[in-house]
Amino acid sequence: MSDNGNGRGTAAGPRGLADARRPRRLRVSPGLRRLVRETRVSVDDFVYPLFVTHGTNVRNEIASMPGVFQWSIDKLAAEAESIAELGIPAVLLFGLPAEKDPVGTENFAEDGIVQRAVRELKRAVPELVVVTDVCLCEYTDSGHCGLLNHGEARGLPEGYVLNDETLPVLARVALSHAEAGADMVAPSGMMDGMVAAIRAGLDAEGWSHLPILSYAVKYASAFYGPFRDAADGAPAFGDRTSHQMDPANAREALREAALDVEEGADMLMVKPALAYLDVIRQTRENFPEMPLAAYNVSGEYAMVKAAARNGWIDERRVALEILTGIKRAGADIIISYHAKDAALWIR
Ligand code: PBG
Repeated sequence: MSDNGNGRGTAAGPRGLADARRPRRLRVSPGLRRLVRETRVSVDDFVYPLFVTHGTNVRNEIASMPGVFQWSIDKLAAEAESIAELGIPAVLLFGLPAEKDPVGTENFAEDGIVQRAVRELKRAVPELVVVTDVCLCEYTDSGHCGLLNHGEARGLPEGYVLNDETLPVLARVALSHAEAGADMVAPSGMMDGMVAAIRAGLDAEGWSHLPILSYAVKYASAFYGPFRDAADGAPAFGDRTSHQMDPANAREALREAALDVEEGADMLMVKPALAYLDVIRQTRENFPEMPLAAYNVSGEYAMVKAAARNGWIDERRVALEILTGIKRAGADIIISYHAKDAALWIR
């Protein structure tokens, strides 16, 4: 330990503390703190999820997600304008079909809810990037992400989500979204080979320029609870543990990501975000060349909202701290229900 030279110490600190050991010097003023800030969340990072439903004049607030709505098509233009006005570059679209069946027919119908919504969004605000979620669970009567096994075929249990049988359906859905005008498709079903199947399906029809954002690393998470109200996509029986990842596994995430890169994914996603910051970080480090998105999911949003409504936390500070943490962990892109609020807060 050295002292300040005159043997008396200083008013600013205890005698003998080495000058080099004072990180607080760079925290003295807002200007200094700004200069040394390592992570900046920008509105450019955000993707805002949108739920579309049939009917007219519908603006249904989702009970477990205050401030998030299901919109009918006629209300979309105004909502899209307000999103673009805030500077948010992209939306992620989810549809609630009129009817559900075993295959999820409306999922690839030319006049399906998502296809109509895409056309309306691109008409109203052409510069807003429209990403579509590609999965079966909102469309199948089972609420599952694929076609189901019946009987005990090949040793698979009754109700097992069949992988290879589901792939052509996913490719067909993605193609129909492309034809409607989507800027990017985002398969979320965690079927093996889904990226390759969608890539081949798009390329064969002349859509080789359309990017795929793969939900590459998606966990079987209880944090999706409120989303399943919003998109009416809860499984009628069972759960998603036979295809979504076990929350205990991190090394396996690298395997999932590597396969999707090999299959032609243009961007990767880790989902959820908050309980998986380590996975975001290692995906970032192992795939430095890939744009990486993180999905700050419905349950993460709902917890903040609920605590804030009780006056237990400061919503603005907590939400920005969470978004900063996700970015600091290594995400380039953050899909968040807080995007509109955050865009105003950080403006
Ligand atoms: C599947 C899908 C889900 C979410 C996004 N896409 C639900 C699920 O896998 O059960 C969850 C998003 C959220 O919780 O915000 N189409």
